[in-house]
Amino acid sequence: MCGIVGYIGNQQACPILLDGMSKLEYRGYDSAGIAVYDGKRIDIEKCVGRLQALRIKIQGHEPQGTVGIGHTRWATHGRPSDRNAHPHCDESGRFVVVHNGIIENYLELKEYLLEKGHRFSSDTDTEVVAHLMADQYDGDFLSTVKKVIRRIDGSYSLVFLCADEPDKLITTKKDNPLVIGLGEGENFIASDIPAIIGHTRRTYIMSDGEIAIVTKDAVRVEDLNGNPINKKVYNVTWNAEAAEKGGFEHFMLKEIYEQPKAVRETMRGRLGKEEGTIDFPELNWTKADLRGIKKVFIVACGTAYHAGLVGKYYLEKFARIPVETDIASEFRYRDPLVDSSCLMIVISQSGETSDTLAALREAKRLGARTMAVTNVVGSSIAREADQVVYTYAGPEIAVASTKAYTTQLIVMLMLGIYVGRLRGELSDELARTLTRDLREIPEQIHAMLEDTEQIKIFAKRYGSSENAFFLGRSLDYFVALEGALKLKEISYIHAEAYAAGELKHGTLALVVEGLPVIVLATQADVYPKTISNLKEVKAREAEVIAIALQGDREIDKVADHVIYVPKTDKFLAPILAVLPLQLLAYYAALTRGCDVDKPRNLAKSVTVE
Ligand code: G6P
Repeated sequence: MCGIVGYIGNQQACPILLDGMSKLEYRGYDSAGIAVYDGKRIDIEKCVGRLQALRIKIQGHEPQGTVGIGHTRWATHGRPSDRNAHPHCDESGRFVVVHNGIIENYLELKEYLLEKGHRFSSDTDTEVVAHLMADQYDGDFLSTVKKVIRRIDGSYSLVFLCADEPDKLITTKKDNPLVIGLGEGENFIASDIPAIIGHTRRTYIMSDGEIAIVTKDAVRVEDLNGNPINKKVYNVTWNAEAAEKGGFEHFMLKEIYEQPKAVRETMRGRLGKEEGTIDFPELNWTKADLRGIKKVFIVACGTAYHAGLVGKYYLEKFARIPVETDIASEFRYRDPLVDSSCLMIVISQSGETSDTLAALREAKRLGARTMAVTNVVGSSIAREADQVVYTYAGPEIAVASTKAYTTQLIVMLMLGIYVGRLRGELSDELARTLTRDLREIPEQIHAMLEDTEQIKIFAKRYGSSENAFFLGRSLDYFVALEGALKLKEISYIHAEAYAAGELKHGTLALVVEGLPVIVLATQADVYPKTISNLKEVKAREAEVIAIALQGDREIDKVADHVIYVPKTDKFLAPILAVLPLQLLAYYAALTRGCDVDKPRNLAKSVTVE
């Protein structure tokens, strides 16, 4: 996830690009760059850090010219650095490109280009596109772009600038957002509306496979075969601030709704072509390596820790390796029994949480092999771990973690399958069921997010409660923990999660008439026991909202309300069951007038102990 901007017109491009990029920093902010055609050549300026660093770098010698492209980066391939910042160009400097997304076959293309003598100056997948333009150049900018598009796989929004034809920008997309802003004697390109809303409200929303040829006086859209496409003008009616949140009231809600795309990105290139197989190209483990691992530790904080609990379950079930989970701040002080036969997995959205980083260092010191599951490329944890698996969820801005959590679950599930197969512990049949069901997940999440009326009603009804309980057994218990955390952190309702069987050992004393109790009941093997526990709280006149799988015919006879989630394998149920809990917390917080994105006393990235 990155932000891209393009401008062509009569004004100086540089200030317009920088202004547009400042509105897109929420899409990525680890480095920034611009490229402007100065009448002779394309001048590229870029540097690591936030946009402000670029502003300072070019102060007093801003690139001059009326056509240019800009980019704020959220690293996916290659850590944040000056050389990996966009724009990227070929060796002659003729072709310059900015990109949002992932070029999946970049290694293959890079090999081909290296053989032909191309020299690369970054570690990115994007640079390959610029070199491929040079390689394929036939004297015509548009036809070369088309040839390149035919050769690349993956997801992208791309904007191309060519020094031989500086009267135009060419742009296209697949699975990433792209809009064109229509001006008078000038036109704009951006990955999102906030970047252009200050200049025009008339836009084209680009669809996959469409190519736009943008000059200062016209925008022509066609497909790969040159067939013209008649685009409808979409008039933006929202204000700039709302636009930055994509029209959502809060970043948290936006991020909840980004989950179908986020989990798709997590699975991209990892779900093997053959059903039942998982590929982690970034992990170079052999069977022997895995056989050498006697124990796994999963260590994290907050929401990431809850993902770790689910991860433990997957690894133990599918790979039959003993796993210990720890809260990072506890792990480092408990003199853990770690040695070189152990694998330490740390999970961290930000990759900067100080306790998690310290736990990672402690495990390394004790000789363990280490692996990080993180969302932020080039983060401290990503740099220090021996191996890294990125979640590719895109920037998460709201303090309460949502899409980071679901993508962590996806990684842990895929890791369980991957390790389970390598160790020969997971049956082909179960592996096939799991990958088949995984493919359904993005669409199932999408469908669930389409229909949230019932949850809004519950949030209103129970939003004034001061206490709430979340119950579940097995995997449902871990989801209950995450549901309670979400509710307490943003709505300030006192929420506790319990393993349902533990209730009668004390907590049941707190269950009184009208108390909202959310019972998760998605796990068939413990279902009858969960229902017994549900009845125990019902008998104390609590109000029970159950979360159950579609097709469950029993649950509505015992619960006051039921939220159904699409039917899936029990192992995947946590990925879906958490969604209503995220939404419940969000709408309860709204009802109570809380500052959803910035809850009191909390911070997104906790870099102190
Ligand atoms: C903070 C955030 C949580 C997050 C936790 C761990 O408490 O508010 O949402 O789960 O830190 O952060 P990490 O970046 O390591 O996942």
